[in-house]
Amino acid sequence: MNRGILFFAVTAAFVFTMYATMASAKKPQYVGNQGCKCHKPELDEWEKSPHGKAFETLVAKNRSRDENKAMRDAKLDIKKDYDKDDKCLPCHTVGYGKPGGYEDDKSAKDLVGVGCEMCHGPGSEYRNLHKEKEETFTRAEAKAMGAVSGKEDKAVCMQCHDHKDSPFNSKLDKKYMFNHEEMIKLEKAWHKVLPLKFKH
Ligand code: HEC
Ligand code: HEC
Ligand code: HEC
Repeated sequence: MNRGILFFAVTAAFVFTMYATMASAKKPQYVGNQGCKCHKPELDEWEKSPHGKAFETLVAKNRSRDENKAMRDAKLDIKKDYDKDDKCLPCHTVGYGKPGGYEDDKSAKDLVGVGCEMCHGPGSEYRNLHKEKEETFTRAEAKAMGAVSGKEDKAVCMQCHDHKDSPFNSKLDKKYMFNHEEMIKLEKAWHKVLPLKFKH
């Protein structure tokens, strides 16, 4: 092989690899609810919360009487399981329709419900940062890795609440109106506020 061509090929391969590495570093992937289990107390609280049970709600046998009433009001079939319905999954699972997000029963176990990553952002890069720097990373670094805050940014909650695609929005009933300032104060809205071991 001509030296010029060889040099070109090696350089191109190098640039490509660098680019691929950078691109993958920039694109956070979903790690699932158990992927966030370093935060065990939050995970335990979340599992008991409405968000933690949001997938179960799609299955007929799990619905309460009140939920069935709400279903009827929204003209939904109370006898039907909606756990495979793409009209419902975007707001009752993690990352439905996005790369690495909820797809089918195979990935179901760990990407069901309104998981951590629906409010905190896809976790892979953040988790790497956590591993690399342990407790010393800053909030700005976490943000750069895709971390978001549903407290600071109400758009995080509004991707589902009082959304035009939700059967349970304020058009159906005013009680579904979403006042972010009020809602964020409710503990059942997310999980108990627990003190962190380290300051970021
Ligand atoms: C991915 C969609 C999604 C996001 C994001 C989301 N929620 Fe929810 N939320 C739901 C679903 C679905 C339910 C109903 C769960 C069930 O009953 O099965 C719910 C339930 C709730 C409830 C309980 C309502 C009740 O009457 O019991 C509160 C409060 C709430 N969310 C607040 C919030 C807040 C605050 C945020 C942002 C920090 C937020 N949610 C983000 C989908 C979402
Ligand atoms: C755009 C997001 C979104 C979509 C799509 C969506 N939901 Fe939900 N769902 C929510 C939110 C948010 C709540 C919580 C509402 C509240 O309590 O304020 C909820 C609540 C519920 C509840 C409890 C209602 C109650 O008042 O107790 C049921 C049952 C439910 N959803 C079933 C479904 C079904 C079935 C589908 C598909 C046909 C669906 N959802 C599609 C966001 C969505
Ligand atoms: C419905 C939205 C929602 C879900 C789901 C959720 N969180 Fe949170 N979480 C919040 C909000 C809001 C805060 C307040 C601080 C903020 O937004 O920066 C918070 C704070 C935290 C904090 C403290 C961070 C800090 O800056 O002090 C940790 C740790 C945490 N969540 C972990 C988790 C884990 C682990 C899960 C899943 C098992 C989870 N969260 C699920 C909304 C959510």
